[in-house]
Amino acid sequence: MDILARARSMEARGVDVIHMEIGEPDFATPEPIVKAGIAALESGFTHYTPALGLPQLRQAISQYYRSQFGVNISSDRIAVTPGSSGALQLSLAAVLNPGDEVLMADPGYPCNRHFVRLFEGLPALIAVDESTRYQLTAELIAKHWSTSTRVVILASPSNPTGTCCSLSELKKIVALVKEKGGVLIVDEIYQSLVYDSEPETVLSLSDDLIVINSFSKYFGMTGWRVGWMVMPDGFVPVVDKLAQNFFLATSTPAQYAALAAFSEGTLSELERRRQQLKQRRDYLVDAVTELGFKVPVMPQGAFYIYAQCAAFSKDSRVFVDQILERAAVALTPGNDFGHNQSKHYVRFAYTTELSRLREGVSRLSTYLKQLR
Ligand SMILES: Cc1ncc(COP(=O)(O)O)c(C=O)c1O
Repeated sequence: MDILARARSMEARGVDVIHMEIGEPDFATPEPIVKAGIAALESGFTHYTPALGLPQLRQAISQYYRSQFGVNISSDRIAVTPGSSGALQLSLAAVLNPGDEVLMADPGYPCNRHFVRLFEGLPALIAVDESTRYQLTAELIAKHWSTSTRVVILASPSNPTGTCCSLSELKKIVALVKEKGGVLIVDEIYQSLVYDSEPETVLSLSDDLIVINSFSKYFGMTGWRVGWMVMPDGFVPVVDKLAQNFFLATSTPAQYAALAAFSEGTLSELERRRQQLKQRRDYLVDAVTELGFKVPVMPQGAFYIYAQCAAFSKDSRVFVDQILERAAVALTPGNDFGHNQSKHYVRFAYTTELSRLREGVSRLSTYLKQLR
């Protein structure tokens, strides 16, 4: 966000900046969703919904799991939330007691450690590298489990690495966390943004965990602020109470708009977008490798490439600043995502169109040649 703010101030001075730092694609919200949102406003659907969400939307999400993934999830176990950010906060609030430890991958989504602290938990960062595709494994979790550990949180595909945790590894993780008496939270916000395989859900393995998801990324609704969580039956009353206290409800027109997210028209548009993102990924992974960055693991999903920049700099934060100033290309430094080797990494987001990515690569090429 800081880099984005600096990039915007350069733009205000008339500089053309290539944005490869932004964590949301440049696509507009699909038209059927926008229309449903307008219709909701015009129909006066502007009052609170129940704290756990609009019943029709909870049912539509349940139906989505059935039709897309072949899993039966009762709508009673689904809560609609203000983005998956709301779902992450509700689930951690429901599970954590002061002093409870939460295991998570480093690098990982930065807000998680702050959410854990918010509820007086202790984030325990586990260093991950290319040998495990930058994902937690059952072995790593077993090694780091302590008497205070209560929760494991992981994202597949991950931000910032775009890598996935396989269902076979997840199966071992589910079994291990159950054996230890802990709670597993799996963030599937990038679930349908995978490029080499079919989308999957950990809910096909077990009901005994919390799954986080969102209309933000795949469905193109970042600014509408609608997400959801699936939880075991036992959590529903406490999450209901917490939601009543934290948020009262998720935005009502946005929930009505989200009802159109599962229509055939929307889903076929989203598939076209997924193909475009795949094209961007395939181009950018090769291009940055050619420039001299190292991408040790092919990112399978999301819209990020986590690349090593040790060939150019000892400190990616300084490096990213210089690139912004001198090449007008905005990247995200590794230190946004944790401490593990973060100085040696930058994140490229392919959230802008191919022609802009090509221009960004050309500018980087010119700039990096001067360094050598
Ligand atoms: C892994 C991950 N989880 C959760 C979020 C939060 O997204 P939202 O609150 O828009 O659903 C993000 C946003 O970038 C993310 O990358």
